[in-house]
Amino acid sequence: MVPFLPLILLLLSPDVVSLGQSNPTCAPMPPVIAIPIFPLDVDLLQFALNLEHIEADFFLFAALGRGLDSIAPELAMGGPPPIGARKANLDETTRLIIEEFGYQEVGHLRAIKTTVGGFPRPLLDLSAHNFAKIMNDAFGYHLDPPFDPYIDTINFLLASYVIPYMGLVGYVGANPNINGYVTKRLLAGLLAVEAGQDAIIRDRLYQHMHEFVPPYRITVAEFTDRISALRNRLAMCGIKDEGLLVPPVLGAEGRIATNVISANRNSLAYRRTPAEVLRVVYGTGNEHQPGGFLPKGGNGTIARELLAH
Ligand SMILES: *[C@@H]1O[C@H](CO)[C@@H](O)[C@H](O)[C@H]1NC(C)=O
Repeated sequence: MVPFLPLILLLLSPDVVSLGQSNPTCAPMPPVIAIPIFPLDVDLLQFALNLEHIEADFFLFAALGRGLDSIAPELAMGGPPPIGARKANLDETTRLIIEEFGYQEVGHLRAIKTTVGGFPRPLLDLSAHNFAKIMNDAFGYHLDPPFDPYIDTINFLLASYVIPYMGLVGYVGANPNINGYVTKRLLAGLLAVEAGQDAIIRDRLYQHMHEFVPPYRITVAEFTDRISALRNRLAMCGIKDEGLLVPPVLGAEGRIATNVISANRNSLAYRRTPAEVLRVVYGTGNEHQPGGFLPKGGNGTIARELLAH
């Protein structure tokens, strides 16, 4: 009861009522162009389902030991269960945050599928082996023992560093081509929460930046730098991804090495196209060649058309 007491007092307080107007305006401004959804909006937002599905099962399994099929089975739409997802060994604060992120992804899946329709969960590879391969690719040699995302909090946060950021930059990239007022509203809401998740993950890693990730003699900061460099390499479109510590020339206003948020010269978020996102998420550097998190490729018009070439 005690934690809710202030809220109850607030609700009972006569000031709350008397301070407000009797008829406040809460309706949004009417849209300038009164078209709710354009056809391209559908393809671009459905494309995002590929990433949202990866995140949903990764976070839910890590926090709870069970995934979308147990929380909201209708959203999986009969897609196959993910490969290798499991409960992570997390400290309780992190576990609760990741559980919240997992539920947020369920909401995102529901919002997208009810607004623009969708497809069944694609086959996902969330195995320790897949993450170990990403880290080996990031460092250019085989980490020994192989990296295990599920073994402790720091490893899990490093593995999480890999995912919401791709959602964030994908949404920023999609923005200019989303034209309906309903789909614009959806995109902004998704983008803001993905950016929030990425920032929380980065901040939790930042606090341990200079520590070694046992048993390797590699710091947390170096892991983030290598993962970001790998993604830049795979996507093949220059620097759009930065670790937690950068040469100051890449930091905010070219003045600082601390880089808790990855952004461009004017501190605006980087943007990526669906092809760039797929090159990274497939881990192949090739949007026509599936692999990585999506062993059979992404679904939806955009990913399927790229796979067909
Ligand atoms: C892709 O989605 C369609 C529905 O849009 C579904 O019929 C098909 O089985 C899906 N393909 C894969 C590989 O999941």
